[in-house]
Amino acid sequence: MQDVILWTGAGQIGMAIARLVGYGKKIIVGDKNIENAKFTAKMKSY
Ligand SMILES: NC(=O)c1ccc[n+]([C@@H]2O[C@H](COP(=O)([O-])OP(=O)(O)OC[C@H]3O[C@@H](n4cnc5c(N)ncnc54)[C@H](O)[C@@H]3O)[C@@H](O)[C@H]2O)c1
Repeated sequence: MQDVILWTGAGQIGMAIARLVGYGKKIIVGDKNIENAKFTAKMKSY
């Protein structure tokens, strides 16, 4: 089963955390600003 992260607040700190812990995981992004959520949803983790 693949780990899933629920992530709210797709800003600078949220992106940094997702890059560190999100590798190989499915991430569900929530943000009150849909454009921020769309932008970060396209980001690749390292
Ligand atoms: N970036 C830093 O170096 C730093 C350092 C110390 C403290 N902080 C604090 O940490 C917090 C986050 O910083 P950041 O740089 O990631 O901010 P940011 O503005 O880059 O990102 C915040 C994101 O959270 C979203 N958001 C705000 N309220 C929300 C809500 N109720 N529901 C869903 N999404 C919501 C915003 O739309 C935005 O996309 C801030 O309070 C900031 O003051 C940041």
